[in-house]
Amino acid sequence: MITPLIMAGGVGSRFWPLSRKDRPKQFLNLVDEDRSMIQATVDRISKLTAHENIFIATNDRYAHKMKEQLPEIPMDNIAVEPMRKNTAACIGLASLYIERKDPEAVMMVLPSDHLIKDEANFLEVMESAVEVANRGDNLVTLGIRPNHPETGYGYIDYASKYDEIDGNEVFEVNAFTEKPDKETAKKFVDDGTYLWNSGMFVWKVSTIRKMFKEHMPQLHKGLQKMKEALGTPKEREVVTEEFAKLDSISIDYGIMEKAENIYVIPGSFGWDDIGSWPALERVEKRDKNGNVIKGEHIGIDTENTIVHGNGKIVTTVGLDDVVIVDTEDAILVCDKKRAQEVKEIRNLLADNG
Ligand code: GDD
Ligand code: MG
Repeated sequence: MITPLIMAGGVGSRFWPLSRKDRPKQFLNLVDEDRSMIQATVDRISKLTAHENIFIATNDRYAHKMKEQLPEIPMDNIAVEPMRKNTAACIGLASLYIERKDPEAVMMVLPSDHLIKDEANFLEVMESAVEVANRGDNLVTLGIRPNHPETGYGYIDYASKYDEIDGNEVFEVNAFTEKPDKETAKKFVDDGTYLWNSGMFVWKVSTIRKMFKEHMPQLHKGLQKMKEALGTPKEREVVTEEFAKLDSISIDYGIMEKAENIYVIPGSFGWDDIGSWPALERVEKRDKNGNVIKGEHIGIDTENTIVHGNGKIVTTVGLDDVVIVDTEDAILVCDKKRAQEVKEIRNLLADNG
């Protein structure tokens, strides 16, 4: 059985003020007018498996919103984390739910907030990844050819070709480096033998449980206790108690940097992780002045500017490289080159994040 696990507990603070504490990026209709990022993720993967096999991991704060946006996913498939402990713990808890449903299941770990333009190609690559995962205790990732020294991604140093499945090349992996510094990232991109980690992983649920045991024994111990309590009246209490003891660490640092049985399939399916406002320039149509405009805008000498309106006419004069976002109760005006710093605004706002 194929069981996608969609991780949807992130906060997406770089999209403030559209994203808020109670409405993070995955719930926004950032690219698609009709569907939020998480709804689009579910729509996409439901072409490979039934809704009752799709699992969602999120935290307490978003569980309600999740049920509202995804009524087609059974409630039992929503793994609710009592607190944010990053993706290793998130995948760990969800792996217990999946294991309970089918100990032989192949998990597809997916972020909830990425754009994929070529869905058909993505699904084909995913099917090849499932095949590699099924062959043994293999950790399979989807890699993206890098085009700039991004420091917010993981880098995969790939080695010899392992196989080719339905036209998709599969490579063995030498090393996985999560979020290198700028200098190292530059070296990796120049080298030409590195791929970006797309943040999507495929493995058997039994494989990842073995990996936790080997590389993250503290998490493994906690998971064993949670497993015993699953389905009993003590489940919530035990999960909360055990979660509180866990280190907050991502799967990339916790497992991928340490494991040796990694394979990568390079994909070119129009992937974009829509990390901050300027990402909209890569995925939306720009007008003749290079502007990306949502809503009504009148500009004089306005270039390379992103306007995300909210019903009012936005007017600008003499702007270059600016981001303007209007929402009901907050406005952002930002130098586009510093859009990464938007995440810090939330820290400056006492209650309004
Ligand atoms: N349920 C749950 N709980 N989900 C979480 C949690 C958590 O504690 N933390 C993060 N997530 C979700 C986010 O919502 C997102 O969908 C996904 O997990 C990845 O988390 P990010 O916080 O966005 O990770 P990242 O972007 O810094 O890095 C990852 O993705 C990059 C590609 O976009 C890594 O896998 C990198 O190696 C990769 O290059
Ligand atoms: Mg991300």
